[in-house]
Amino acid sequence: MAIMTTSSLTFQPVLDRIAAEIEKTPERGRPADYIPALAACDPRRFGMAVAEPDGTVYGVGDWRQPFSAQSITKVFTLALDLAREGDALWEHVGREPSGNPFNSLVQLEYENGIPRNPFINAGALVVTDRLQTQTGDAAETLLAFLRAESGNDELTINERVAASESAHGDRNAALGHFMASYGNIGNPVPVLLNQYFRQCSVEASCADLALATGFLARHGIRADGTRLLSSSQSKQVNAIMLTCGTYDAAGDFAYRVGLPGKSGVGGGIIAVVPGHCTLCVWSPGLDERGNSVSGVAALDRFTTLTGLSVF
Ligand code: DON
Repeated sequence: MAIMTTSSLTFQPVLDRIAAEIEKTPERGRPADYIPALAACDPRRFGMAVAEPDGTVYGVGDWRQPFSAQSITKVFTLALDLAREGDALWEHVGREPSGNPFNSLVQLEYENGIPRNPFINAGALVVTDRLQTQTGDAAETLLAFLRAESGNDELTINERVAASESAHGDRNAALGHFMASYGNIGNPVPVLLNQYFRQCSVEASCADLALATGFLARHGIRADGTRLLSSSQSKQVNAIMLTCGTYDAAGDFAYRVGLPGKSGVGGGIIAVVPGHCTLCVWSPGLDERGNSVSGVAALDRFTTLTGLSVF
């Protein structure tokens, strides 16, 4: 198989080939079943988009179909909070892989209410809490950012999904209250949970999310040319995506894909090739660690076929 050089790269044939291969794959995983809105998704659906730093987008399959972004949003809240408070954030959340499932509670007591990293649920709650303090409305700040970066003013929060998250949110509530007992949450826990559930319920397509991730390929520069993060902060967010973005599967994801990536239980995964492009893939069937089976397979094929990776 010929590996394409960056200069000869046109992404469309690569995406078409990957979609044709995925179509033939029998094992597609199972949709998240903890809320009815996600359980109803067909695991055979598949979409993938690649965005270049100038905003050119290529796509295949269901790449324009909005889906529940879920934990993918944790990348954007992290960036939005880092942009506002800088390194002060790291007094409240760590930067080490947890090796545990995304919603695990066990490490928190040993580690005095400081979550291992910003992408497990505990860490994401801390980030959202701090963004809430900074902005007065974390979820709306996130939504405005995603709309601006994707150029899609129709992005919305699915309030039905948010209500369902809340109805099944005992574990996140436990995490929030537990961290509050250590003084690591500044807002009333119900306010924080409402913001977090709304954040997770943003719906966007592969095209929208590939474009919205573009600042991480442009070393911190937003779509309009203004700077969100310093080049160094952009590198740091990419590094945390690589080491923590797929939870207890981060090692396997780095091995197979070789890119900073962030998954969500809606079946989406975003990934970054710094300086080159950003990707988003969606297929709702998950593996036992909560990552999209076909999404990981498609990104694995992308880096193999193009030779683009951080390694
Ligand atoms: O906190 C939760 O349980 C969900 N709203 C988001 C979890 C998620 O997407 C984890 N990622 N794989």
